[in-house]
Amino acid sequence: VLESLKGVNRGRLHLAAASTVNYFAPRLLAAFQQRYPGIALELEITNRESLIQLLQANAVDLVLMGQPPDRVEVEADPFMDNPLVVIAPPEHPLAGVSAIPLARLAEEPFVMREPGSGTRQAMERVFSEHGMTIRQGLQMTRNEAVKQAVRSGLGLSVVSLHTLELELETGRLVILDVAGFPQRRQWYLVYRRGRRLSPAARAFHDFVSTEAIAVAGRVLRSPGVLVTD
Ligand code: PGA
Repeated sequence: VLESLKGVNRGRLHLAAASTVNYFAPRLLAAFQQRYPGIALELEITNRESLIQLLQANAVDLVLMGQPPDRVEVEADPFMDNPLVVIAPPEHPLAGVSAIPLARLAEEPFVMREPGSGTRQAMERVFSEHGMTIRQGLQMTRNEAVKQAVRSGLGLSVVSLHTLELELETGRLVILDVAGFPQRRQWYLVYRRGRRLSPAARAFHDFVSTEAIAVAGRVLRSPGVLVTD
């Protein structure tokens, strides 16, 4: 056992994560690093489309992302809830209104992430499943920019709850109570099918599977966020 432990506590681990994961990935990596100080970590943060390309190129050990890709053969293990919520500034007329019908959102402009974003894809899917088109307002490549735009009254948006920890604490943004939301999604650990995980990659996989909720799940228990079964 000691020998195999020694084997784990060295090497280099190349990880990639969705930009949304960036809100908790550093905490996860810090906790992992404490347990395995000998493993050198490299983390690439990018959107869903670029993550799929990294998987296609077999260029990374592990990827943390939302919906696993269907055009690359992968192993995908869910490790934590990833609720998608509708956000608005606190002074918006819909703030505090309960059970807003989804159709009501057709009247509102939406701040959108770029094509290639998993968040955007999920948001478009919800609307199209209900035969609705999104009134697209500004388009922005970063979650931070999207939140600032929503805060400035430029539209509503749909984001992962994990991006909102600070805004919920400070009351700068509110979550709207819209029928069909939160949309239930999951975070996945993903790697190319057939890729042999190094001992370091295996250790990270096991660590995230068992520790992620304790290290990064706090926002999932935010007041006002009811993720019901
Ligand atoms: P993204 O996040 O919007 O940054 O691509 C990935 C996802 O949630 O699938």
